Amino acid sequence: MRFSDDLTARVVEAASAAPSIHNSQPWLFDAAGDELRLHGASDRALSVCDPDARALYMSCGAALFNARLAARVAGIDCDVSRLPHPEYPFDVLAVMRARESHAPSAGDLRLYESIWKRHTDRRPFSTRHIPRLLVAAMRKSAEVEGACLRPLGRRDAAIVLDLAAQAGRELAADRGHQNELRRWLRNDAEDGIPTWALPVAPQHNPSPVRDADLLAAAGHISGAHGAYERHPQLAVLTTGRDEPEDWLRAGEALQHVLLVATLNGVSASFLYQIIERDDMREVGERSWPWPEHPQMIIRLGYGAGTISTPRRSSAEVLKPTERLQLSG
Ligand SMILES: Cc1cc2nc3c(=O)[nH]c(=O)nc-3n(C[C@H](O)[C@H](O)[C@H](O)COP(=O)(O)O)c2cc1C
Repeated sequence: MRFSDDLTARVVEAASAAPSIHNSQPWLFDAAGDELRLHGASDRALSVCDPDARALYMSCGAALFNARLAARVAGIDCDVSRLPHPEYPFDVLAVMRARESHAPSAGDLRLYESIWKRHTDRRPFSTRHIPRLLVAAMRKSAEVEGACLRPLGRRDAAIVLDLAAQAGRELAADRGHQNELRRWLRNDAEDGIPTWALPVAPQHNPSPVRDADLLAAAGHISGAHGAYERHPQLAVLTTGRDEPEDWLRAGEALQHVLLVATLNGVSASFLYQIIERDDMREVGERSWPWPEHPQMIIRLGYGAGTISTPRRSSAEVLKPTERLQLSG
């Protein structure tokens, strides 16, 4: 089995539809023979808000999940090695090696179609509850990727909202953070967050969306307000350890959970500001009774629907193999 040009283009297009921090799309791919390799795009790393590259790994993990799924749908199973070159962890994040051919399952086909329907929705959700069976299915999706999805009860959700509000205020007041964020808020580009995708100003605080730093960076241009849900349905995605490979796996788990949600009509947005700030993440870790490490706070619910944000073309994301040979 090999990654033909056609297969590679299809897999890379699916990978690129993944969510990424500020829509920075910090991934590159190259294919050679039976291997497709995923690389971190260092020129797209966020040095202020993501100095350890945690969010970059997670974004690339989400892209990796889509790539694995697209290959399966094309009839190809892959062995995946994550961070196969510990001496160059950033250069090669994962290698997918094509193994054998088989017919895709109906479940894979449906999940694959959801890749194009999944979008981050930062607008108010309804008060409708997510059915228990669906929550269980999302938890299972996180589990098969080596992570854990912890739905929060009202009390824990209130603690998280307060933490998120505090983190948001601090980030909104941090000039370095605001400067970097502002560079990724842009219209008419092939990356970044377009202004139409931003949250509206909440009528009540604390809100369940990341509004403070995003709206401050955008200059509060729209002036629109929204009645967000008072009791948002939040879940924390966690991993047993907290190393780069766990961040990558957390991204794969995040995307698996989001696609199952999308398939069932559930929308999502994120409160990553708590994870982004080391001090807040530690407060969060101490507040919850679980032994794992939080990687993402996900808000789930039923929204009015939204559309896709821009993406770089497959040609941009797919680089000639020789340009990515490891040095040394
Ligand atoms: C690691 C990571 C962190 C993110 N953090 C936030 C966040 O705190 N708030 C938010 O509204 N969106 C967040 N996002 C969503 C991205 O902004 C979004 O995926 C990107 O703009 C592309 O849009 P799309 O998801 O609609 O395709 C995050 C995504 C990733 C992968």
